[in-house]
Amino acid sequence: MKLKKNIKIILGLLIIIIGIFSIFIFIPKENKEVKSNQKTNKSNKDPFLIECKKIDYCKEEDKERYQKYQEKNKDLSLEEVITYVNLNLDYSFYTQTKETPALNKDYILVNKYLYLGSNYIPENLESIPIEYSRSGMKLVATANKKFVEMASQAKKDGFPIIAMSSYRSYDYQVNLYNRYAAADGVEAADTYSARAGFSEHQTGLCVDIYDGKIPYTSFEESNSFNWMKDNAYKYGFILRFPKGKENITGYQYESWHYRYVGEEIASYIQKNNITFDEYYVRFIEPKL
Ligand code: DAL
Ligand code: ZN
Repeated sequence: MKLKKNIKIILGLLIIIIGIFSIFIFIPKENKEVKSNQKTNKSNKDPFLIECKKIDYCKEEDKERYQKYQEKNKDLSLEEVITYVNLNLDYSFYTQTKETPALNKDYILVNKYLYLGSNYIPENLESIPIEYSRSGMKLVATANKKFVEMASQAKKDGFPIIAMSSYRSYDYQVNLYNRYAAADGVEAADTYSARAGFSEHQTGLCVDIYDGKIPYTSFEESNSFNWMKDNAYKYGFILRFPKGKENITGYQYESWHYRYVGEEIASYIQKNNITFDEYYVRFIEPKL
């Protein structure tokens, strides 16, 4: 009789313990599912998110920034809104900065939000042959090879191109920017010169050119400029700071500054008339 009573108590206790366990094990899981379903249902019904998610590079978590930016820029398409916000253009230049990823890659992006560390020196820097360059100029090997091919063809066609600035170290850029800022003031200097760490020249993938005759700042007036306009992309080079895109690049138009990105990216940019910044957030960043 007593034994039967004890078994009943033990069984009762077991049932209570199992009951408590199942509350901890099963109910939170169900809650989680319900919660995530609620979230999905919510975003599935949100008209803004429905449209946003049709675009590959829409970031659901940035919905409020997109909407705020769209409100302020009613003429922009949703694609442009997302692109510009992903570029951080809803923040002032030189705020929300972070070290750029994709170091030593042809598709590295450096701009007023993405910087290179003061110790960053690209791998495989090589001297540009003196035939196509001012002395002491260097580029990353892949860019150098294509630059030489391009300059040699341009020369054959009768449109010389000469590199007058290419890889610049962090320290070199410190001095250069400080000199400009002292002469013209920070606000003006920021329109044409990058602060140290924020210059694409530190990647070793870009080059300022001239035709060997007129000053580089007037490169646009040279025949070599027209040749570059039609041919640079075939060698993987793009005009990095185009006219009319100053609000995206953060710099005034530079007809002399070309960036190596490889033939595939350069061809897309040439065909679609977008900046490398836009290309990067649409096609590169989502894969990083
Ligand atoms: N002039 C370009 C923006 C630079 O300083 O890197
Ligand atoms: Zn330049």
